[in-house]
Amino acid sequence: MESRPGFHSLEESRAASLAVDGSLPEWLTGSLVRNGPGAFSLSEGNSVNHWFDGMAMCYRFTFDPGNEAGGSVDGSEDAVHYRNRFLETDAYEAAQAGEFNGGFATGSTTLRERLKTLFTEPYDNTNIIVERVGDRYLALTESPRAVVVDPDTLAVDGHFQYDGSEPAGQLACAHLKRDPSTGTLFNVETEFGRTSEYHVHALTNGGQRRHIASVETDAPAYMHSFALTPHYVVLTEFPLRVDPLAFFKPGQQAPFIEQFEWQPDRGTRVVVVDRSSGELVADPLTDALFGFHHVNAFERDAGTELVLDLETIPDATAITDLSLDSLRNGDMNAVAGRLERFTIDIGGVTGTARYDTEEATIDREMLYNEGTALPTVSPARWCQPHRYVYAMSMDQPATEWATGVMKYDTETGDVVEFQRGGDYFGEPVFVPQGGAAEDSGVVLTVALDVDADRSRLLVLDGERFDERARVDLPHPAPFDFHGRYFPELKAKANE
Ligand SMILES: [Fe+2]
Repeated sequence: MESRPGFHSLEESRAASLAVDGSLPEWLTGSLVRNGPGAFSLSEGNSVNHWFDGMAMCYRFTFDPGNEAGGSVDGSEDAVHYRNRFLETDAYEAAQAGEFNGGFATGSTTLRERLKTLFTEPYDNTNIIVERVGDRYLALTESPRAVVVDPDTLAVDGHFQYDGSEPAGQLACAHLKRDPSTGTLFNVETEFGRTSEYHVHALTNGGQRRHIASVETDAPAYMHSFALTPHYVVLTEFPLRVDPLAFFKPGQQAPFIEQFEWQPDRGTRVVVVDRSSGELVADPLTDALFGFHHVNAFERDAGTELVLDLETIPDATAITDLSLDSLRNGDMNAVAGRLERFTIDIGGVTGTARYDTEEATIDREMLYNEGTALPTVSPARWCQPHRYVYAMSMDQPATEWATGVMKYDTETGDVVEFQRGGDYFGEPVFVPQGGAAEDSGVVLTVALDVDADRSRLLVLDGERFDERARVDLPHPAPFDFHGRYFPELKAKANE
């Protein structure tokens, strides 16, 4: 491994049936699919220096209690069928040829070049997450062009873009939001121009989309995600802004993310859009703050209050410090966040009073300020009140990667940490068992064991937050971003 474990490159792709130490619940028969930067150099003399610019690598873990598929595993009743693979995208091909320039913060890829490329041959190093849209599995990044992934082989099966009949942007929030009660997905794109706009869409299962609203802005914000409630889409417009006309300027410019400027005097505008009418309901201002991830959002008091849990990063300027050099030196302050709760009072209960944006107020409350990363809630609670938040457990300030995962109780403020089975931990993904208590289920996380030089999948009991099974992987995986559990991706015979 290179100097800092977890920020190394993983060159090999493997497919293997792996033994389970412990036991898998009988109901856990789907797959966890994760995505993240797998390598930072693919050819001599051509490397990226920002973590977000690593080449997309996907990992699939298919749970097989009782090893029904009959994979070859020694000394274990249950099996996990594992596979990892680089996404063989245009960016990957370029990297192999020594021509990859990153896209986020590396080298000569300028804002202008990136956006131009987005119009013609959009950037496709989709290393952030894999989402299911209809019957397709799409690898996503902050580009409106998604990569279609075969969930069995993790091979690239073409690209996917919406048909262009609706207003579209050149940048996209990497994260879609799904309302589990309707199954509808939403996305947000930013269109640069003399008048810049955020476009909000609902996605249909057939791969079409329906334009919901467009919100004007004089200087687009860097927004990695947004929030969704049963009736509203909420955009948190952080004061990390870009001059939209930079796109049209000729000449050499700084890398993409360095074009964004921290403008704290603007504060943070929280834009509430009605999910069905597209009307702007409210846009209250709060303090200058920054964050990547909206954890969850819901409505209360007959829909007059919106509650948003957001992981905030104390110093937005640290985003440009997510360089591999900084991370390998142990500066993790751009990774470590805090859990905060924002409550928006959107005004009167009935009629048009509700749309009086002047009346809206926003309150800010610190939930947990001792260091989190990549926070999640049960997908069964998306858009509904949640009690538990799972996250990587960081120090604040942070001098190393997460040494555990945590379960935070928003009702009591209690925190339970789990730190066994590895030195460093990745995003915890909760898989609900269904029907029972909110925390009835398992938590899946991948830990890196530095001495053993390999990663390990850990299956934790959701309620007790202790280990019930572990699976050693055949290699050490670099730290990745996000995973999704897909119940429909089941083990196949002779996997
Ligand atoms: Fe993310």
